[in-house]
Amino acid sequence: MCQMNSVLLAVALIGLPTFTYAQSRSDHWYDHAVIYEIYPRSFSDSNGDGIGDLNGITARLDYLKGLGIDAIWITPFFPSPNADFGYDISDYVNVAPEYGTLADWDKLVAEANKRGLRILVDFVLNHTSDQHPWFKESRSSRTNPKRDWYVWKTGGGQSQPPTHWTSIFGGYTWTWDAHTQQWYYHIFLPQQPDVNWANPGLRKAMFDVVRFWLNRGASGFRLDATPYLFEDPAFPDDPHPPQAGGPAALEPYNSGRPENHQVLQQMRKILDGYPGDRVLLGESSTATIQDLARVYGKHHDEIQLPMDFLFGNLNALDAALFKKQVDAAQLELGGETPVFFFSSHDHPRQWSTFGDGKHNDEIAKLTAALTLMQRGTVLLYYGEEIGMGNMPGGQLRTVPLSSKRPRSDDRDGERTPMQWDAGLNSGFTTGSPWLPVESGYRSYNVETEKANPDSVYAWYAKLLQLRRESALLRDGAYLPLESGNRDVFAFGRQAGSKEIALIVLNTSSKEQAIHITGIPKGWPPFRTVLAASPKASAPASQDFTIAPFGVLITSVD
Ligand code: GLC
Repeated sequence: MCQMNSVLLAVALIGLPTFTYAQSRSDHWYDHAVIYEIYPRSFSDSNGDGIGDLNGITARLDYLKGLGIDAIWITPFFPSPNADFGYDISDYVNVAPEYGTLADWDKLVAEANKRGLRILVDFVLNHTSDQHPWFKESRSSRTNPKRDWYVWKTGGGQSQPPTHWTSIFGGYTWTWDAHTQQWYYHIFLPQQPDVNWANPGLRKAMFDVVRFWLNRGASGFRLDATPYLFEDPAFPDDPHPPQAGGPAALEPYNSGRPENHQVLQQMRKILDGYPGDRVLLGESSTATIQDLARVYGKHHDEIQLPMDFLFGNLNALDAALFKKQVDAAQLELGGETPVFFFSSHDHPRQWSTFGDGKHNDEIAKLTAALTLMQRGTVLLYYGEEIGMGNMPGGQLRTVPLSSKRPRSDDRDGERTPMQWDAGLNSGFTTGSPWLPVESGYRSYNVETEKANPDSVYAWYAKLLQLRRESALLRDGAYLPLESGNRDVFAFGRQAGSKEIALIVLNTSSKEQAIHITGIPKGWPPFRTVLAASPKASAPASQDFTIAPFGVLITSVD
């Protein structure tokens, strides 16, 4: 059973009326975890074929432990025709040959556990590959027992799909099957047919997959594309069809359906039946913060960690926007654990997104403090901690497509090889890498940055150490503050009635004067600077200035 993991407190703050803030009182590891996302194809290649693999990850566990993360989420490493780079799975209970074997997975889990690291498996539950045996059976005839494991409709025959819904990857959500003279439904590519979660046989088969990986040591799952599990059974036509080729996400008839809750509750029950505090991390895009609050489950019995895309999709360095979305995540989710991230295998890398071309490192340090100093769970994307940049499309196109590179994708720019050192292929592979190494690797790599106390890596390591060692920064309540300056985001962390930390972030290229309000009576002055970039001293009063792109983390003790 899930327990209520937080409370809402009301306190009187200077300069503000009575305010509500969220305080965590959970001892679940995942409520304050840092989870490191690994795109296995690009992390570390152990056998010289130019493609990263599970043994490569095992070989880097000491690095990850040293960095100070709690868990790893590995994006799909299962057999797949790679129409969508592993997100089209043709066998859920195996390892693709290019990534290794089930024995390699077992070794990875054992070695991770030795180091106190947990591993989350990416579970693609909305669709399979069209090459999965389930779909091959389903499409073999209208009377096949697995026909109903997928979503089939006749529509108006070959010339007219059942609805004019648009898929997330473009085109209609329907593909015509000439053999059985029906359409099948896919919210993503035609090679990714949606399964039918209403079918009990399919549901059982999927839950068997869940048990398979839990039995083999997974600490939980990152659930792919959770909003799309069900469609409106009436399949109404789209009253506002998007422009041809335009995006089609989150329509009321194909996402966020009430039927999703039951599946997620059932899955959560399976996890809760296992020891070890297993977790569901959800790719749970929502249109509003209220919708996001519902993803945790009315009784806290669904996804413990739904990713906050309202925050994660921000792409402008703007203190006011950061404050708006952080306040919402911290104060409007009923005290549930928010999940912060900026970079991922689907999002361009934040060093490039927020960087201005001149101060990218300072800005990367600022966005790191913005996420890592929050109450809640933080996702880091491999290479974020060394300031890896996105590779521009032009550089990617110079590499010919080969059997090692299934197809090009406009997300390749954030999926280039991890930069381990300044040597050939950045130490990722002894062979020829499946994607080129990003050109900044001679300066931005683990080995070089570990030796430099001012590097992006050193800053991340420092913040992660602070989170580990300071109960205040790990578990303290979030305290909303006002900086009196739209370029400066200030917030506090508070533990009990004795400890407080102040975090100040200047998102502008100019020094900014601020006046902090919202700090409970009697707290200032702050005395101890925990971290600052560039160097700054603890403010003596609520009025002070902060350097361009400056970060200040200070406390009273
Ligand atoms: C999720 C994955 C993305 C994939 C899509 C379809 O959004 O993160 O990479 O393309 O699902 O499976």
